[in-house]
Amino acid sequence: MLLRGERLGEISEDVLEFISSREADRWIYEADLLVDRAHLVMLKERGLITPEEFGEIVAGLDKIDEENLGEGEDVHEAIEAELISKVGAVGGRMHTGRSRNDEVATCIRIVLREEVLSLMAEVNGLAKALVERAAENADSIIPGFTHLQHAQPTTLAHHLLAHADTLLRDFERLSDSYPRINRSPLGAAAFASTGFDIDRNRTAELLGFDGLIENSMDAVSTRDFLLEALSCSAILMANLSRLAEELILWSTSEFGYVELDNLFTSTSSIMPQKKNPDTAELVRGKTGSVFGSLVSALAICKALPMSYNRDLQEATPNLWRGISLTRGAVTIMAGAVSSAKFRCDRLEAASGAGFSTATELADSLVRKTGIPFRTAHQIVGALAVKDERPTIRDLDEAAERIAKFRPSERGFGEDELKTALDPNENVALRSKIGGPAPKETRRMAADRKSRIEENERLVGEMRGRVDQALESLREMR
Ligand code: ARG
Repeated sequence: MLLRGERLGEISEDVLEFISSREADRWIYEADLLVDRAHLVMLKERGLITPEEFGEIVAGLDKIDEENLGEGEDVHEAIEAELISKVGAVGGRMHTGRSRNDEVATCIRIVLREEVLSLMAEVNGLAKALVERAAENADSIIPGFTHLQHAQPTTLAHHLLAHADTLLRDFERLSDSYPRINRSPLGAAAFASTGFDIDRNRTAELLGFDGLIENSMDAVSTRDFLLEALSCSAILMANLSRLAEELILWSTSEFGYVELDNLFTSTSSIMPQKKNPDTAELVRGKTGSVFGSLVSALAICKALPMSYNRDLQEATPNLWRGISLTRGAVTIMAGAVSSAKFRCDRLEAASGAGFSTATELADSLVRKTGIPFRTAHQIVGALAVKDERPTIRDLDEAAERIAKFRPSERGFGEDELKTALDPNENVALRSKIGGPAPKETRRMAADRKSRIEENERLVGEMRGRVDQALESLREMR
């Protein structure tokens, strides 16, 4: 144990285990070595260590192997101890003007920005899968639901594009959070900064950060960036669970609208005929776990006084859990969506069920006969009481009873009725912006496709900036 020395003496195994973050620190091991290196480069440039010392320490760092790390409360202590055992007392210069408090906050941000960039790419990939399936299905007529009751006919493209647009907002949320993640707390030291003549902007630049978390007290104590990433993940999962739920419902024999590829299903250990949508169910289930990660982290960070408190260590594993569950779910859904077989025949057959063309019948009556919409709503509502498809006689009778006129005598005859009751005609009429008509969904699909390409470019650019900085840093000897 490097740190306790005469001040505290030995520690017992159970206490060490209790206070240790070593398990979760697997996530930040690589980042910690980068932070060490950037700090050393800066110390050398500021004349706080000599070039020779720098060379010896960096050569020692290069030889460190995660497998061989010894004990310690955390990875920071273990790496420093290992370094000193390799290069001797000179290794003790590395921690000049630094604390584990700014170190750990920096490490978390370095790993999180990578995770967020990957998640952004994955979310964009899922949106792309949805848009591609939408483009194939501009003409596939399907039932649309409200309250999970047949409502009005729509198209599969319209439905899938709704999910795609939702995910594109999730992409934006993640992208918006990124500039608040990618800021450097390094150099804040324990919280009060340091009397050494360090250069915080230089370490920030070396590590590919876009700037500083300036106030050194704020820098070590805030985890709002992590709460924000978890919030984005939780909202994303809430959205994803809706898609998952529909895949589950739609693949029941009651709906029979979709069949998931075998790869995304499991069977039963007792019922040989079963093909269960387990991947979608687990997306739905893992949504709860991601919410749990967010709520745990919020509860841990709540009401902590300034500045660093060890409680913060307990928040971090929730971040890694939340973000990796989210990434896994997004990737699985992209595969499930791309390979799903939509049963367009069944979807179309169901599209007129439950008198789902009633709204259009009322609308057509308004357009042809000039009656107020509410009157038309009353007339068509009366027709809906019966189970059979209404005839023109039914319509005339109901209109006569309710509004004292006969539609067939005011230009609304057999042909008009037939058209109003045709799901395809219903959809074709709904060609206004954002509507389900094939013309409009084709336009939306093309627009989203170019947005998705733009997103791909954006992620590549953001990643490129970070990678370039880290590549140069790794080469510094
Ligand atoms: N492992 C700690 C964490 O994850 C960092 C160490 C800070 N320790 C301290 N005694 N100040 O937050």
